[in-house]
Amino acid sequence: MLDAGRTQETLLEVNNIEVIYNHVILVLKGVSLSVPKGGITALLGGNGAGKTTTLKAISNLLHSERGEVTKGSILYRGERVQDLGPSDLVKLGVIQVMEGRHCFEHLTVEDNLLTGAYTRTDGKAAIQADLEMVYAYFPRLKERRKSQAGYTSGGEQQMTAIGRALMSRPETILLDEPSMGLAPQLVEQIFEIVKSVNENEGVTFLLAEQNTNVALRYAHYGYILESGRIVMDGPAADLRENPDVKEFYLGMSDTGRKSFRDVRSYRRRKRWLS
Ligand SMILES: Nc1ncnc2c1ncn2[C@@H]1O[C@H](COP(=O)(O)OP(=O)(O)OP(=O)(O)O)[C@@H](O)[C@H]1O
Ligand SMILES: [Mg+2]
Repeated sequence: MLDAGRTQETLLEVNNIEVIYNHVILVLKGVSLSVPKGGITALLGGNGAGKTTTLKAISNLLHSERGEVTKGSILYRGERVQDLGPSDLVKLGVIQVMEGRHCFEHLTVEDNLLTGAYTRTDGKAAIQADLEMVYAYFPRLKERRKSQAGYTSGGEQQMTAIGRALMSRPETILLDEPSMGLAPQLVEQIFEIVKSVNENEGVTFLLAEQNTNVALRYAHYGYILESGRIVMDGPAADLRENPDVKEFYLGMSDTGRKSFRDVRSYRRRKRWLS
């Protein structure tokens, strides 16, 4: 279900991948997903479902964790990318914002942003213009630009991490758990910015989130991952209305609100699979 302005062109395609850590631990058991150009696609699921593993498989960051894609294929614009290095992928226009908003703590906010432009060859003026673009999306970063990143707040560090990704002029951003550890108001603010970057700059997003509620309000399409398998997918608007999603992931049901703990224990029933 894509609006006018977004195309049906698929940028990223993950076909039935299996990921094994340390040669023995099978974590992804046949995950398939597709990311259309210009959309915001959400990869949802609880702790340990395999969201980060999926993103790292795409961006070739598993090797340092002793993880390996042992089956399936990953294509970007139809080209097989799973044997490339992480920096090759950046050159293709795909950049990952890691979980836990990794910044260079000893560098200033501005220098952190500038490190995002390291693969670019289009000159200082273009990079300076993009720095101003990032500051326009994140006015807070402009105020803090001379501060050492390690001393800025969690929200500012998340903004810095996203801003740094934007500095590489990406076609696609893989965004891992942008809401992590942030107050609800700040989460909303960050998702608003993701939405405007998507709409105004045409950047495609694949975002991993435990926060189903906020992710399904901003994404166009969602995949729900449980124990290394996609158990459901659909347009975000449909998932928001799905009774199982409501009960298990949005903490709501016809009988009233459930606590997160109830939701977690019920989740094992996986009604939609039986
Ligand atoms: N380097 C590793 N070695 C072995 N097992 C790992 C490694 N990294 C992750 N795992 C395991 O893989 C599974 C999936 O983890 P992953 O980090 O992908 O989940 P996630 O959905 O991102 O969870 P969270 O929401 O907590 O970030 C978990 O069971 C985890 O313990
Ligand atoms: Mg994760």
